[in-house]
Amino acid sequence: MSKIKTAFFCQQCGYESAKWNGRCPSCGQWNTFVEEKIQKDVPLRNNNWKQEAPSRSDNIINLSEISGTEEERLLTPDAELNRVLGGGIVPGSLVLVGGEPGIGKSTLFLQNALLLPHITTLYVSGEESAQQVKMRADRLGIKNDQFYLLTETSTQTIFQEVKKLHPQLVIIDSIQTLQSPFIEAAPGSISQIRETAAEMQRFAKETHTPVFLIGHITKDGAIAGPKILEHMVDTVLQFEGDQHYSYRILRTIKNRFGSTAELGIYEMTGQGLRQVTNPSEILISQREDQLSGVAIAATMEGMRPMLVEVQALVTQSVYGTPQRTATGFDLRRLQLLLAVLEKRGGFHFGVKDVFLNIAGGIRVEDPAIDLAVLCALLSSYEDTAIGSKICFAGEVGLSGEIRAVNRIEQRIAEAEKLGFDKIFISRYNKKGGAGKFDIEVVPVGRVDEVYQQLF
Ligand code: TYD
Ligand code: MG
Repeated sequence: MSKIKTAFFCQQCGYESAKWNGRCPSCGQWNTFVEEKIQKDVPLRNNNWKQEAPSRSDNIINLSEISGTEEERLLTPDAELNRVLGGGIVPGSLVLVGGEPGIGKSTLFLQNALLLPHITTLYVSGEESAQQVKMRADRLGIKNDQFYLLTETSTQTIFQEVKKLHPQLVIIDSIQTLQSPFIEAAPGSISQIRETAAEMQRFAKETHTPVFLIGHITKDGAIAGPKILEHMVDTVLQFEGDQHYSYRILRTIKNRFGSTAELGIYEMTGQGLRQVTNPSEILISQREDQLSGVAIAATMEGMRPMLVEVQALVTQSVYGTPQRTATGFDLRRLQLLLAVLEKRGGFHFGVKDVFLNIAGGIRVEDPAIDLAVLCALLSSYEDTAIGSKICFAGEVGLSGEIRAVNRIEQRIAEAEKLGFDKIFISRYNKKGGAGKFDIEVVPVGRVDEVYQQLF
């Protein structure tokens, strides 16, 4: 006799519990438990290790017997997407793409699917009607007669259609609307997401069809659904950007087929997303007069060098507790740099309000931006502008030393290409490419040396 069992699942992290909890013991979130029906598998009890088999079965393969090397990847016309995926779409891969509502996930994948020539694409939309998708395609102005649309949420119906169409690429918009008839829970619940993702994974692996799953994210930025969803897929991409800027960034969070340090930059225009091939140009404001509090950092995002403008404003504090605000930069890192300046340089930031902003609405995690942040702070503190043809690449240590950063030659080359005259780097970046460049490379060892050279 089979009895339907239920359990409570945390909608945040997927923690399973027999009873309802107000607070999840695993992730600490409140009010996240929802009761869901589960089907418990009967465990297999006939594992008889002693039974002797004559030889190994066909299921076990010797690695050297597997033929073929890396399969041919499907290159999209979108160079940014290809790079983020690690060099094109891998056949049979399952890619999850997360992002806030309205950021442009549907636009990105509709656009890419429409641009792929000679590839049969099936776009499954559970969120929008066929007319809505058509309207968007018209707006993008791209025509493709191998693009098929299905508005459906049941996975089994989708698979039936797939059998007839034989698409070479499947896009699911979104995983939260999918429903498997084998599970009774509502679409978007933990067990549905888990089951439908597993069905999609089996489909992708067995038919060698790449599948893209578009997913929503929760208010604190995680992809809605259990964390295990991220383990089930091959690649996790995040599409992000500031609502007030038109720039969008496609980041890799996980990638079984490439580096996770890659980044794609797009601009949202009236006709869809435009690839930004030279990000430095948009990230540095074109200005004639020199302003204090501005410094340019030569950063790297993945394998791509990028020059970024750092803006700082240091003012006399009117309240007892001085304010510190950072946009696009880690606030704790800013506090650390201020403490270094206070202790090692004797600057009194303790009585000042400090505001820091990375231009263009992007977030930089490369530690090489430290030196530019520090110089922007000093420039605003002294109210003296830094020459607009100077840039910086260096990490700042706790004792005020300027530390070496990776790929220094690429950074210097990019700065030179963009017409900079001078770049400050760490003295410890030994090679530093001396002699190879026309740009003046200034090695510095400590914060006070930089100060003396600049002001
Ligand atoms: P959408 O792809 O629907 O976002 P998501 O699927 O991530 O929820 O993007 C919607 C936004 O993009 C909407 O605010 C309008 C804007 N947009 C443009 O600015 N230009 C365009 O060509 C398109 C298609 C959308
Ligand atoms: Mg959408």
